[in-house]
Amino acid sequence: MIYDTHAHYDDAQFDEDREELLRAMADHGVGTIVNVSASYASCERVADMVQDYPFMYAAAGVHPDHAGELNEERFARMRELFRRDKVIAVGEIGLDYYWDNESHEVQKKWFIRQLELARELGLPVLIHSREAAADTMEIMKEYAGGLKGVIHCYSYSREMAKEYVKMGFYIGVGGVVTFKNARRLKETVEEIPLESIVLETDCPYLAPVPYRGKRNNSAYIRYVAEEIAKIKGIPCGEVISRTEENAKRLYGQPLTR
Ligand code: NI
Repeated sequence: MIYDTHAHYDDAQFDEDREELLRAMADHGVGTIVNVSASYASCERVADMVQDYPFMYAAAGVHPDHAGELNEERFARMRELFRRDKVIAVGEIGLDYYWDNESHEVQKKWFIRQLELARELGLPVLIHSREAAADTMEIMKEYAGGLKGVIHCYSYSREMAKEYVKMGFYIGVGGVVTFKNARRLKETVEEIPLESIVLETDCPYLAPVPYRGKRNNSAYIRYVAEEIAKIKGIPCGEVISRTEENAKRLYGQPLTR
C-alpha cells in the first residue's frame, strides 16, 4: 500500500474534514502516513494526533523557517516528545535560504543540534533544504554520517542526489515530479535506483497534476507513483510496493504486517 513519508495533517487547511479524510485513507490504498511537524507548536500537535490513528506516525522537529522559535528550554521539551509512542523521526529540519526567515547562523545552529539529537536517539531525519544545496551537504557530511534519513522534496541536481544516495539517504519525491516544468527532478528519478526513493505528499502543499494548486492529501500520491512508473518504465504497483518497503526500512518498521 501507499506509504506517505511526509505529510502535515495538523495544518489548518484540514480543520474542516480531517477526521473524515483520514478515516477514508485505507479505501484509497494508503497504508501508512508520517505526520511531520514544522513549527515548535506543531511538534506536540502531530505527536498528539497520531495517537488517534493506528496507521499514522509522527516526526517532531523544527523547520528552518521557524528555527528562531527554539531555545534550550523548548529544545528540552521537544526532546521529551520522543518518549511518546509512535514518534519515530526528527523532522523536518534543515536550511531554507529561499524564504530566509531566520539568519543562516540560527538555521545552521538548530539544524546541527537536531541532527545531534537524532543521533543520540537513534532516529532517522527528514531534511528540508531549499536554495541551500552547498551548506546542507556540508553539514550533512559533517554531522549526519551513518544516520538514516530522507532529503525531502528533493529539488537539486541529479549529481547531488547520487551523492546523497551514496551516503545512504533516501530521496523524497512528491507532487512536483508530475509538473511539466520539473525536468530536473524527472531526470533525477530516472537516474537513481527505486531502492532509494520514498513517496511523500508534503500535504496540504504541492498537489500533483491534475490537482496542482489545490489542497493535497495522501490519496493523491498515486499520481506521483504513476509518474515515477512512467519515467522508469515499470508497473505502478511495483513503485508503490518498493517505496513502501523503503519507507519501512527507513523508519525501522517490520516489512510485513
Ligand atoms: Ni514538509
